[in-house]
Amino acid sequence: MSAFLEERVLSVHHWTDRLFSFTTTRDTALRFSNGHFTMIGLRVDGKPLLRAYSIASPNYEEHLEFLSIKVENGPLTSRLQHIQVGDTIIVGKKPTGTLLIDYLLPGKNLYLIGTGTGLAPWLAVARDPETYERFDKVVVVHGVRQVEELAYHDLFEKELPAHEFLGEIVKDKLIYYPTVTREPFRNQGRITDLINDGTFPANIGLPALNPETDRVMLCGSPAMLADLKEMMEQRGFKEGNTTTPGDFVIERAFVEK
Ligand code: A2P
Repeated sequence: MSAFLEERVLSVHHWTDRLFSFTTTRDTALRFSNGHFTMIGLRVDGKPLLRAYSIASPNYEEHLEFLSIKVENGPLTSRLQHIQVGDTIIVGKKPTGTLLIDYLLPGKNLYLIGTGTGLAPWLAVARDPETYERFDKVVVVHGVRQVEELAYHDLFEKELPAHEFLGEIVKDKLIYYPTVTREPFRNQGRITDLINDGTFPANIGLPALNPETDRVMLCGSPAMLADLKEMMEQRGFKEGNTTTPGDFVIERAFVEK
């Protein structure tokens, strides 16, 4: 039996010349938790070429959704960026990962901090009703270089607050905090700096990050994760994993594909 499912591309959206997202069919046998990643890719010369991608669609949806960078010479993304509706992609049957609310201790506020394609897991976690049952506030941070890279901006600002089932709770609990580093924007600078200098908590109207009340999930480049992990640990947050829940969990957004 193959380790992969074959899924059909249903839609493709190019956000910028570096960033795109797409949806596919979903085999009813594919089960996952919101925040999981799985291997996806293409068959190249008959052989599977795969990379790990966070599943951006929540697990109650009938389709799958992925957010991807485009790397000119990337073995996979140089090809994947050309996919069209009706094409086939392969999807690993065993989603996994640490970015699950189950791997966090109970808390008051949940911070989902992602840079670049590190937003992808939050697209599932922030569309999961369970997330809002466990936390009073859910803060989605998306750090990017340029304003046009704020993919899914309208989902957070317009669609979710108007959502048929989640709308009311989202309006009450979800805070979306986009920040841009390389051009002017209402929130400007690296999230690490904005946390450290107090700008971020002041902007969202919540106290400084505190392990007594706050839980954090991190997804981004290795450098971003290293810096934020250190900051969290300095503030007394303990890292969790799939066997022991903690105050924060981490996963690398796979950037060089
Ligand atoms: P910067 O423009 O200052 O490099 P990338 O596309 O390289 O993954 O970056 C996405 C966003 O993450 C950019 O805004 C980038 O800021 C920011 N970033 C990169 N490294 C770090 C880091 N170590 N800590 C916090 N933010 C970072």
